Amino acid sequence: MFWNALAVVALLGQSVSAQNMLRFACSQLTIERADPLVTPGQSPAPHTHQIIGGNSFNLTMEPVNYDPAAKSTCTSCTYSEDFSNYWTASLYFKSPENGTFQRVPQFANGGLQQDGGMTVYYMPYSAKNGKMTAFKPGFRMIAGDPMSKKNNRVSICHRCLGNGEGFAPCDAKDTGELPTKYCPSGIRASIIFPSCWDGKNLDSPDHKSHVAYSNSGGLGSTSCPTTHPVAIPQVMYEIMWDTGRYKNDAWYGNGKQPFVYSFGDG
Ligand SMILES: *[C@@H]1O[C@H](CO)[C@@H](O)[C@H](O)[C@H]1NC(C)=O
Ligand SMILES: *[C@@H]1O[C@H](CO)[C@@H](O)[C@H](O)[C@H]1NC(C)=O
Repeated sequence: MFWNALAVVALLGQSVSAQNMLRFACSQLTIERADPLVTPGQSPAPHTHQIIGGNSFNLTMEPVNYDPAAKSTCTSCTYSEDFSNYWTASLYFKSPENGTFQRVPQFANGGLQQDGGMTVYYMPYSAKNGKMTAFKPGFRMIAGDPMSKKNNRVSICHRCLGNGEGFAPCDAKDTGELPTKYCPSGIRASIIFPSCWDGKNLDSPDHKSHVAYSNSGGLGSTSCPTTHPVAIPQVMYEIMWDTGRYKNDAWYGNGKQPFVYSFGDG
């Protein structure tokens, strides 16, 4: 229900100045049952991911030592200096009539050129003391927790598109869970990553305790907890799911909707 968005975020830092927001489209690199972070080397991985970014992506990507930024020679992202890999769960339509699954296609985000994939943002909010620390080579982290049943809408959210909504991510127009009504223009999923770092570890056993959300939880805060005092660029993904094609009044409402993520939650 509250999903798992995984990223290997590698060296990009030098290009990110504290003044500039980067927003770039990344087309699909591959859709595979692969997860080098949570289940390295395991093939097939427990669930399908859609993967974008550098072409050195592989099943092992040994933590810390493997720096996709150093190993890749090209990327599916339009920001060609970034060889990071990013991945998230895939979304499926599960037919209420016959139980079969169809992978929900994606569409390009407003004005961007892309084939599937997602839009990646680097938002360099400067910390209270004006300092922003770039990602170090080999750095990686995940956002979200497939085991969590806690709604964390401020960092991972869904917006039902086609009702004249604005752009700001994860505000009151969004829901933590997938919308339970028909969304004529699709569903936008936003994933906001932690923006505070312990300043020491490139990774951690659960891939997230070395990072933390700022004190206000969501986007744009510059106040890091004392345990994770170092401000890092805030990474956000946007994924546009083309759910508008699944129109049938019987599939929605009363808490029902027909979509399910590849790790099994709806
Ligand atoms: C993945 O990358 C590692 C390190 O470069 C390499 O040793 C390994 O053979 C690669 N695995 C595959 C399946 O390409
Ligand atoms: C199952 O139902 C869906 C609609 O819910 C339909 O699009 C699909 O073609 C059906 N598949 C089979 C195998 O009947």
